[in-house]
Amino acid sequence: KTYCIIMAGGVGSRFWPASTSKTPKQFLDILGTGQTLIQQTYERFRFVCEPDSFLVVTNEDYKELVMEQLPDLKEDQVLTEPTMRNTAPCIAYAAYKVAANNEEANLIVTPADHLILKQREFETTVNSALEHISKYDDLVTLGIKPTRPDTGYGYIEYEAGSDRLQTVKQFREKPDLPTAEEFVESGNFAWNSGMFFWSLSTILEAFEKHLPLVKKCFDVYSDKFLNHSEGEVIDKLYNDCPAISIDFGIMEKADNVKVIEADIGWSDLGTWGSVYDVSEKDANQNVVISGKTLLENASGNVVNLTPEKVAILQDVQDLIIVETKDALLISSKKSEQNIKPLRAKLGQQF
Ligand code: GDD
Ligand code: MG
Repeated sequence: KTYCIIMAGGVGSRFWPASTSKTPKQFLDILGTGQTLIQQTYERFRFVCEPDSFLVVTNEDYKELVMEQLPDLKEDQVLTEPTMRNTAPCIAYAAYKVAANNEEANLIVTPADHLILKQREFETTVNSALEHISKYDDLVTLGIKPTRPDTGYGYIEYEAGSDRLQTVKQFREKPDLPTAEEFVESGNFAWNSGMFFWSLSTILEAFEKHLPLVKKCFDVYSDKFLNHSEGEVIDKLYNDCPAISIDFGIMEKADNVKVIEADIGWSDLGTWGSVYDVSEKDANQNVVISGKTLLENASGNVVNLTPEKVAILQDVQDLIIVETKDALLISSKKSEQNIKPLRAKLGQQF
């Protein structure tokens, strides 16, 4: 049986003011499609997983949002964390939950907040990954052809060859800019898409080998699981558990990593600029996601207003204009990475 684990505990702060700590971007319809990003993620994997084979791991504050947005899920399919410990504990939690019922399972791990435009190619790629892990004890990831030296991604160096599935020589999480530039130029690197495929036994072995401290926390948990409430045990466990991402903790260290080249129209929708890139543009290259906007000599802008609002944009280029009930952002597209630190200056309540 194949389980799909959706990681949905992040905060998405570069998407302020649409994304806030109350409603992070995975719970928003950021592209104006009628579905939130976590709903799109769920639908995307329905071709391979029945509703009862999904697990969502999220902060306890977001449990209700998940239940509302994914009404097919039962309460025990939403695993809640008391604090953020990054993705390795999140994945371990889900793996132990699956192991309690089914030791033979295959696992798909996916972020909740990405866009994939080419569903048919995506399905073919996922099927090859699942076929591979049903035969081999490998950690499989999908590799995306890099288009710029983005330092927010993991980079995967693979062996040159004609097969779509390649052996990984090195996995480097979030390199600095000169290193990223070198990687992109060299041609034999892919971006890590952040989706992973492995059998339950393979990932548990990898935790044993590379993150024994995380594994130990959960081993204690599985013993106590029968006698105590899950919430109580998880609270204690998360308190003790180190915070580390799966990328730094396991993918960089493991020697059984494989990558499948994936031309699936992927975007991690990290910033407003990436939303702009994947959205339909008007004749002057503007993107209006929501709100009624009159544009006069305006080009390259991305606009997202509350639906009833009317705006005029005149003589302005390459701006991000985002308005919510409580806040307004006006920034140039080129400074979008700076939205995250600026938002931090405003303080948590915003
Ligand atoms: N439940 C839970 N708990 N989920 C979490 C936590 C946590 O503590 N931290 C992050 N997540 C979720 C996020 O909501 C997101 O869906 C996913 O896990 C990945 O976390 P990010 O914080 O977005 O990771 P990243 O974007 O910096 O890097 C990862 O994704 C890149 C591609 O987008 C890495 O896997 C990179 O290697 C990769 O290139
Ligand atoms: Mg991300």
